[in-house]
Formats: sequence, C-alpha cells, structure tokens
Amino acid sequence: MNPDSILSIQDVSVTFGGIRAAAGVSAEIERGELFALIGPNGAGKTTLVNAITGVYEPDPGASIRYRDRDGKVRDLVGRKPHHIVRLGLSRTFQNLGLFPQLSTLDNLLLGRYTHQRSGVLSGGFRTRRAIAEELEQREAVEQVIELLKLSEYRWEPVGGLPYGLQKRIELGRVLAMEPDLLLLDEPMAGMSADARLDIVRFIFEIREALGLTILMIEHDMAVVMSIADRVMALNFGQPIGLGTPEEVQAIPAVVEAYLGAE
Ligand SMILES: Nc1ncnc2c1ncn2[C@@H]1O[C@H](COP(=O)(O)OP(=O)(O)O)[C@@H](O)[C@H]1O
Ligand SMILES: [Mg+2]
Repeated sequence: MNPDSILSIQDVSVTFGGIRAAAGVSAEIERGELFALIGPNGAGKTTLVNAITGVYEPDPGASIRYRDRDGKVRDLVGRKPHHIVRLGLSRTFQNLGLFPQLSTLDNLLLGRYTHQRSGVLSGGFRTRRAIAEELEQREAVEQVIELLKLSEYRWEPVGGLPYGLQKRIELGRVLAMEPDLLLLDEPMAGMSADARLDIVRFIFEIREALGLTILMIEHDMAVVMSIADRVMALNFGQPIGLGTPEEVQAIPAVVEAYLGAE
C-alpha cells in the first residue's frame, strides 16, 4: 500500500455463478482525490464498490486495505458492511436508499446511527445522556443541512420531493455518517441537466469543506472529464485504463467500449 493511499485494492475478483463481474482489479486511491470509475452498463462498477464495502466477499487472493484517519491500515476483506462504515467508508446506492415517508431531517438523523451510543430505540424514558446525545446528533445533521442547502425541506416527507432533491438528501444521509472515504454510485443518474449541475457543485463543495476522498461511479464522460482527478475504466469486469481523464479518454479500448455501448 502506497503511503499516500487511503485505499489499496489488489487483485479483486468477484464471481457470480461462473460470471466474473470483477476480474483482477487493482488500484490505489490517494487521500483527498476524486477518483472516478467508468465503464458501460454491466462492466462491474457497482460490484467493485460492493466488494469494497463488504456487501460481497471477493474471490480468494484479493486484498482490500484502508488507511483510517489515525493512519492505521485495516484489512477490509471479510468484514461486515456495518464495521466498514464505522471505519470511515460510506456509500450511496445506485437506487435511492431513503425512507420516503420520513422527513428530510429524520432521514439524515438515521444516517447518524453509526455514531449513536445509547441506541436508536432508547424507549419512552429518556436519560440526560440520551438527550445530550440527541442534541449532538442534531448539530451534526444541521451542518449537513446547511452544506447541502436543505433547510426548506427539513420537515417534508422525502417521497414527495423531486427526484434530484432526493438524490441530494441521500448524499446528505451518507455525509451525516462523517466518512473519510465517500463512495458514490451514479449520484446523478436519471437527473435533469440542471439537477446534475447542482450535484456536481455540491460534490465539489463538500469535498473542499470536509476534506473528503471520493470514489465516484459515473457513466457520463463529460462529467468525469470535468471533475475527476483520476479515472479507472472497466469493461467486462476488467480494468482497461487508469490515469488522468485525458489519458483514459485517449485509450482506444475505452473509446471502443463507450462507442460499442452507445
Ligand atoms: N448479485 C448478483 N448476482 C448475479 N450477478 C450479478 C449480481 N450483481 C451483479 N451481477 C452481474 O455482474 C455484472 C456486473 O454488474 P454491475 O457491477 O452491477 O455493473 P455496473 O455497475 O458496471 O453496471 C453484470 O453482468 C451483472 O448482471
Ligand atoms: Mg452499477
């Protein structure tokens, strides 16, 4: 693992009943960078994020290592998703992971469960400690509300809000977990051009304000070109390019994969 890396992936393969969704993927993600993962549908992008976050266990021989905020290197293979979240890696899902009937505020508060000591279900009798803790959670969530400009939707059930706004709230929910490494699975998928631009701006802002490292899956080459520091392209589970957006865009196999998919 490089000394500057926050995440080191070596030889990660994931097989589903004979199909190799990821095939020997290796990469080093540097602390502070915005690293994009691109590739046509079915290329294995989500699978790779699932392997990193403990949803799938990679095939034997893989190594996934994470350097936490104290500089301690942690092996992620074999850990459960909730352990991995506690180490400082949080992710969004390709499809919304919100509770539609709950308000924006409650959805964000649910993102705080990893930091809760007295438990979400503290019951009817509330101790002083539970009340103090609730205030602490509220403060953390208020920061997110401010950063993502969500205050006017605070009490609204999220299910009734426009899709682009729901994606922004989902981003807020993972930010409320106070990650060091944020993994975003197509944060702009299905959005209008205006809403996409908004999200790009917010991603920039949160990265600046919170000093995050971001690993982002994004299909749109134009978006990737404009915001990523480095890019890895996958096709049929295999890495076909790794470098700056300019470098990767010029690789014939990448051009082919994209043209073939369109
Ligand atoms: N849980 C699963 N079971 C079986 N096959 C899967 C599963 N998840 C993904 N796959 C297959 O793995 C391949 C890669 O999928 P995925 O990682 O979702 O691609 P991407 O996110 O790049 O669009 C696809 O062929 C998909 O059908
Ligand atoms: Mg996907």
